[in-house]
Amino acid sequence: MQIFREKALLQREISRLKLNKNTIGFVPTMGALHQGHLSLVRQAAEVCDAVVVSIFINPTQFDNLKDLENYPRTLDSDIALLEDLHLDLLLFTPNAAELYGEEIQAMHFDFGGIEHEMEGKYRTGHFNGVGTVVKRLFEIVVPNKAFFGEKDFQQLQIIRKLNEKENLGVDVIGCPIDREDTGLARSSRNDRLSANLRKEAAFIYQILLKVKEKFGIENADEIKLWVENEFENHAELNLEYFEIADSKTLRSENNNDQKSTFRAFIAAYAGDVRLIDNIALNY
Ligand code: PAF
Repeated sequence: MQIFREKALLQREISRLKLNKNTIGFVPTMGALHQGHLSLVRQAAEVCDAVVVSIFINPTQFDNLKDLENYPRTLDSDIALLEDLHLDLLLFTPNAAELYGEEIQAMHFDFGGIEHEMEGKYRTGHFNGVGTVVKRLFEIVVPNKAFFGEKDFQQLQIIRKLNEKENLGVDVIGCPIDREDTGLARSSRNDRLSANLRKEAAFIYQILLKVKEKFGIENADEIKLWVENEFENHAELNLEYFEIADSKTLRSENNNDQKSTFRAFIAAYAGDVRLIDNIALNY
């Protein structure tokens, strides 16, 4: 694996690869790599000749300074995990000045409204920060395909919109959620859970599976009430939101329009760790 801290050197290597007709896959991350990230890298390597992985903890997407400070910084073990894959990888680990220049600031985007739903209501400015860094990274790497996990489904749709609006020309691929044995969606945050909370947090996925069974039999309002009640009766998890939403507009819906595809979304706290998860309901 080749490691680059400077964009100019990375770009030189990517140009060389492209001249030799290699396709470039891209997996942007904030490090603290786990099996979920590695599965994105493997999927990228299956369909692209070379894969760029970036590790950059993007300050502009944190709405909460404490969250940014607490974000795990594990570059050495991240490198070891990537090396163990024995794939043709280019790792890009820029610092903030390399990526942003002098002004570490988010741009403002209009994502057509999807930025105001769900996560957008609870994490002010988060998607502007994500949009800014992903645009910047896409412009540097110019990948053929970029891979994102469906756990952050709203982020995935935001990136698709960004790609379209800014004409970035990348094939944006959504990859299925990777789960721990209990069903808990893999996340860098899971390591901050106590053993007991990690076990309890599997409840989130169990609820989503039951919602999928109920969908089409009960209406969305009834399901929502049921979910809220289930969480109220759970001693250790606090629900922040539950929504059934159209997978394109991300607007909450209460009709089962046969032509649309729907997903259910949950954000909940286990102790002070905020977890999100979602499931496709009718597709
Ligand atoms: O999903 C993430 O890890 C981040 O939001 C991303 C896409 C790497 C942008 O910083």
